[in-house]
Amino acid sequence: MRVVVLTGAGISAESGLATFRDADGLWEGHDPMQVATPEAFAADPVLVQRFYDERRAVLGRVRPNAAHEALARLEQELGDDLFLVTQNIDDLHERAGSQRVHHMHGRLTAAWCVVCDARHEWTIDLRDEPACPGCGRQTLRPDVVWFGEIPYGMDEIHEALWDADLFVSIGTSGVVYPAAAFVKYAVAAGADTLELNLEPSDGADDFRQSRTGPATELVPAWVDDLLSTRR
Ligand code: APR
Repeated sequence: MRVVVLTGAGISAESGLATFRDADGLWEGHDPMQVATPEAFAADPVLVQRFYDERRAVLGRVRPNAAHEALARLEQELGDDLFLVTQNIDDLHERAGSQRVHHMHGRLTAAWCVVCDARHEWTIDLRDEPACPGCGRQTLRPDVVWFGEIPYGMDEIHEALWDADLFVSIGTSGVVYPAAAFVKYAVAAGADTLELNLEPSDGADDFRQSRTGPATELVPAWVDDLLSTRR
């Protein structure tokens, strides 16, 4: 059975990472959505770098939770039959043990030089304009996909959805495209569909089944069920 899993901010909420659209949605008075654009970066690069620097720093203080761990266990069992795509820019899937994570919105732990186009693993602040290890210019930005930019790996994602027997969406509000359309694509491809979310998302009606509750409970239970039916 080929399974595509899409995750969003809700899977990392119980690790202590704020979601984008739940309560207390402001960062120092700014709507996070307005910091995550090329226009915001052009207008105030230090502000935008600081927003992502803070998020990168927080990674050192949080840990993967039972939902990330369950998906790592699923990868161990399914191997290449699991395609895990995340909208999250945190590294909690990897730290839980997942080895093949498709970060469609990029990663906090990578920096991109907009001049030489090199990408580098990254752990420190970018606000002080460190030099690119490739070309030496001070032209690094977080390797994340902003509103108005094209998500990474869309061809591969569409291929995986086309081949999927089951599409599962976890902890995402279903309002940001193109990820919000994956369920429709999966249905058109003939896959079964399941949503696991704290509350029904905007797209809940598109799923054959929608389960509500915290990811740390729903995801391990679903993985257990799936693996027991395979044995
Ligand atoms: N367990 C399961 N779901 C949860 C939990 C939890 N503990 N806590 C919150 N949720 C759900 C919320 O109900 C909501 O539907 O997670 C969802 C989070 O939604 P968003 O904050 O909109 O995050 P996401 O869908 O990942 O956002 C998509 O928007 O800002 C951009 O690029 C950013 O990748 C992000 C994209």
